Amino acid sequence: MPSPQPPTGRTCIVTGASSGIGRATAIALAEKSAHLCLAARNEAALEEVAALCRAAGAEALVQPTDVTSRAEVDRLIQAAFDHWGRIDVLVACAGAYVRAHAMALTVEDLERSLAVNFYGTVYCMLAALPHMLRQRDGHLILVTSMDAKKGLPLDGPYVAAKAAASGLAECMRQDLHGTGVHITTVFPARVDTPLIGSLRVPAVSAKIPPEAVAAAIVKALRNRPPEVILPFQARLFHYVNTCSPRLGDWFVRVLHLEGWEDGVPEGVTRL
Ligand SMILES: NC(=O)c1ccc[n+]([C@@H]2O[C@H](COP(=O)([O-])OP(=O)(O)OC[C@H]3O[C@@H](n4cnc5c(N)ncnc54)[C@H](OP(=O)(O)O)[C@@H]3O)[C@@H](O)[C@H]2O)c1
Repeated sequence: MPSPQPPTGRTCIVTGASSGIGRATAIALAEKSAHLCLAARNEAALEEVAALCRAAGAEALVQPTDVTSRAEVDRLIQAAFDHWGRIDVLVACAGAYVRAHAMALTVEDLERSLAVNFYGTVYCMLAALPHMLRQRDGHLILVTSMDAKKGLPLDGPYVAAKAAASGLAECMRQDLHGTGVHITTVFPARVDTPLIGSLRVPAVSAKIPPEAVAAAIVKALRNRPPEVILPFQARLFHYVNTCSPRLGDWFVRVLHLEGWEDGVPEGVTRL
């Protein structure tokens, strides 16, 4: 089985590359001289990221893609393969934050979230996988969310999709053992990106920079861990919640980990 390789000269597809974590990951991979295929819907934003990647010395291809469309995802994977003749890494980062209170939840909310956060990831994984299996070498990296480890109030549609994606990845990772194809699921807590730009959060779950997630992804390409949870407080909270979900719920309630849009709930430390 091939040993872990740095991204140098490897073909890396990054979805959600126009903004936030995907953008930071593309730039971090470019700094390691990866070949980058950048995907998202906003072509102008992708071109800007591609220019930054090229300035860092990497090859970069822009492929405007709506990941909720299987046909567009197939075109994305084919474009990368046609250009470089292999697919080494997929970073499935495209996502949307769909929230709804349980009493107002609709099937449409769930469908909207699943379309991008679950199927948008799964289409990419399943289209890239045959190339990786043929090569007996490849790494699928899914950016899900700490929410998939501990759902928060209001986040039902988002969590349902992220938990489905991480659950599927957990099974596939074990199915693929020994094939040369690796899967890492990344579970970031709050990250300072437009996705949650208007959401205020308590100091205990302060937003981390997208570059921190990008650095963790680049490291994961070397170490191939099954999972990455970040930052440290999120790992700690995950262990607490695993031992006692009741205690986990209590922390969420008291610390208002779900965040808020306006004003500050009583007892919350303002950032
Ligand atoms: N920010 C956080 O606190 C946080 C925490 C945990 C996990 N995450 C996850 O990290 C990932 C990246 O989010 P972010 O925080 O970097 O948010 P962001 O800055 O809003 O980026 C989201 C990216 O997804 C792309 N996207 C959305 N819908 C798409 C679609 N239908 N087809 C193709 N691309 C689509 C967007 O590009 P276009 O609009 O150009 O299509 C954009 O590039 C998401 O999966 C998110 O769930 C974020």
